[in-house]
Parts: sequence; C-alpha cells; structure tokens
Amino acid sequence: MSLLRVENVYKKFGGLTANQDISFTVQAGEIVGLIGPNGAGKTTMFNCIAGYSPPTTGDIWLEDLKISGMSPEQCARIGIGRTFQVARTFTSMTALENVMVGAFLNERGVAAARRTAQELLDFVNLGRFADKPAGSMTISEQRRLAVARALAVKPKLLLMDEVMAGLNPTEVRETVDVVLKIRDQGISCLIVEHVLEGIMPIANQIVVLDYGKKIADGSPHDVSNDPHVIAAYLGDE
Ligand SMILES: Nc1ncnc2c1ncn2[C@@H]1O[C@H](COP(=O)(O)OP(=O)(O)O)[C@@H](O)[C@H]1O
Ligand SMILES: [Mg+2]
Repeated sequence: MSLLRVENVYKKFGGLTANQDISFTVQAGEIVGLIGPNGAGKTTMFNCIAGYSPPTTGDIWLEDLKISGMSPEQCARIGIGRTFQVARTFTSMTALENVMVGAFLNERGVAAARRTAQELLDFVNLGRFADKPAGSMTISEQRRLAVARALAVKPKLLLMDEVMAGLNPTEVRETVDVVLKIRDQGISCLIVEHVLEGIMPIANQIVVLDYGKKIADGSPHDVSNDPHVIAAYLGDE
C-alpha cells in the first residue's frame, strides 16, 4: 500500500483550475519531488494534502485513511507535517519556542515539549540557536527551523515547500543533508522545489506539474529527459 495516494484531484478557484485531475502516490520511506514552473499548482496541491484547502473533487488517502476534507489539525495528528512557502516563523520567539509550538500537538507538559524541541533543533543542526530569537537567524537557518517545527508533530509524511529557494550552494547541501537524515528516520518526504540541483540527486520519484496538470511522473533521470518537461521549463525562462 502507498503511504500517500492522490486520486483525480481537481482544485478550482472560481474559473481557474489550479489542479486538474492530479493523481500520484508516495511510497513509504521515499523522497518525492513535486516540481514545475511558477503557478503550476504545487502549493495548491500541498494545501489539499495538508487540509488547508480541500480538493474541489477527488480524494486523498494516507495509507487506508481518506484524508481529503480533514482539517489541518486532523491532518497533523494523523501524520502529515508541512512547512510553508512563505515562512511562518515567529521572529520574536526563540528558536526553541518556535519548535515547541509544534511539539504541543503531542506533548502534554512544557518540559516534554521543551525536550522534544531541543532534540529536533539538534537534529537539524540548530541546537546552538535554542535561546536566540528566530528573527536573528539566516533565511537558511529559519527554513530548517520550520522543518524542525514540522517534525515536532511526528509526521509519517513531511511536505516541504521550497525550503531551498534562494540558498547558496553550501546552504543547499546542508538542507539536503537534513532531508536525507529525515528520510533515514523512516519519514517520507514530498518536496516542492525550484532548486533542481537540490532535489534531483536525492529523489526516488519526480512529479511534474505545468498549468495545473501533471505532465510527467517517474525517476529523476526519465523526467529530466522528458521532452514535455524540458519544454515546460524552457517556456518558463
Ligand atoms: N487562494 C487562491 N485563490 C485564487 N487563486 C489561487 C489561490 N491559490 C492559488 N491560486 C492560483 O492557482 C495557481 C497555482 O498557484 P500555486 O499552487 O501557488 O502555484 P505554485 O506553487 O506551483 O507556484 C496560480 O494561478 C495561483 O494564482
Ligand atoms: Mg508555490
């Protein structure tokens, strides 16, 4: 059984069809890249999966549970973590407090939430920032902070929306290392990314959207040699 199954999802905003008949799966333990030009419908797809904005029609399954129509909190409770394309870091709170916000979903007490948050900061190599205001961290560090907060809900599937955008090559490598560590913990990753050098080498599967439609789905090698994909990216230049 697939971990995530997206079946014939349509998402319409008035006359605009942002997702048109999208189907794909994510297997347990895998990294899947969701790529495509700006406006292709990638963030809309994430919002459908994580309960922020349900599909107009179509179904989404996490293992044998139908999740389309669930609230964001229900989706988090059953194992879907996410980061946001536009960072939602609480800049005046410390890094530790930011992660504790996520940890409170599962932990009852403050001490337990604090312990979990510190472990997660260490896991994303931000342990030294625990008591620093999040607003004092670099963009790259704040993205990893958002990843730590998403991990605090103990997800089976982690959705990451452009966590590598605007990072320098060293920062991309640090972020890729964290993604691989997450995968090695048994957490599947569905990653929206424009930085193809970041996602292509580590993904098991790449799904490509263009103008709301899925135009390719396969191994990174096959997808990057697909004429439809090449045309979509050249058209984006
Ligand atoms: N809440 C919304 N209301 C109306 N249109 C939206 C909304 N969210 C996204 N869209 C539109 O849907 C299309 C896909 O957007 P989005 O999913 O953000 O693309 P991507 O993440 O691939 O860049 C765009 O044309 C965008 O303007
Ligand atoms: Mg987007």
